[in-house]
Amino acid sequence: MEAFTNIIHGDCGEELRRIQDNSVDLIFTSPPYADSRKSTYGGISPDRYVEWFLPISSQLLRVLKPDGTFILNIKERVAEGERHTYVIETILEMRKQGWLWTEEFIWHKKNCYPGRWPNRFRDAWERLLQFNKNKKFNMYQDEVMVPVGDWAVGRLRNLSDTDKVRDLSKSGSNFGKNISNWLNRDKVYPTNVIHLATECGNRDHSAAFPEALPEWFIKLFTKAADTVLDPFMGSGTTVIVAQRMMRNSIGIEVMYEYYEMVKEKIAPVKYCLF
Ligand SMILES: C[S@@+](CC[C@H](N)C(=O)[O-])C[C@H]1O[C@@H](n2cnc3c(N)ncnc32)[C@H](O)[C@@H]1O
Repeated sequence: MEAFTNIIHGDCGEELRRIQDNSVDLIFTSPPYADSRKSTYGGISPDRYVEWFLPISSQLLRVLKPDGTFILNIKERVAEGERHTYVIETILEMRKQGWLWTEEFIWHKKNCYPGRWPNRFRDAWERLLQFNKNKKFNMYQDEVMVPVGDWAVGRLRNLSDTDKVRDLSKSGSNFGKNISNWLNRDKVYPTNVIHLATECGNRDHSAAFPEALPEWFIKLFTKAADTVLDPFMGSGTTVIVAQRMMRNSIGIEVMYEYYEMVKEKIAPVKYCLF
């Protein structure tokens, strides 16, 4: 089985129009943060962020398959002493476009460097917002199971009577609130908090993901030969990982130097005709 990797130089607002309707299984991306990193690749004013992003999210809605998932890595910046509200406003407007805001994951940056600010602590997490077109979407939860861990030894040995009763009214799945179901298991499902170090050593791009971040979501929401899209490709972390995992991938990047850099890094590209 051979997967295609298609990287495109251009503005995703335009280039997304070339992608077929309902053709992508997972969109995983981190757009430029509002007004940040002006020195490297520009920034959008926080007050204009929603207006800038909505035409792009409308194209993303068009290209995503009905059972696909969109994961948006974003964080509101501090403006004039307050957290700006553009992330919340973006969510509300995307819901009006037809997106369901299904879930929110937290990326806890384990190695966030120390610092001191007069009115807040160092920022050690980012949002990964999950959007879908429908309530039913593909999700391969068994692919991201984690070792049960030492807590199980003490916690599961001393179960209360309540812990042993399945809460039938709320749980329709195999394992609900009845914690005793988890006895004698090596692996459990993870939480929606992902603990990962940033990769400080990455000199290719000032905002590159750690590879393990797209990898986790690609495992969770796609299978081999599915298609992954990153419309803000940067140094290509998403497409490189997708290629390694035998997924088809499409990356779009507006800055020519990043596009060229990714072109050199990926294995020979198989171009697909949209
Ligand atoms: C936060 S970075 C993405 C970093 C990426 N996740 C990685 O691991 O390297 C956002 C990227 O989007 C690019 N970009 C900004 N506006 C764009 C647009 N309209 N179309 C395509 N790419 C854009 C920037 O040049 C930048 O490389």
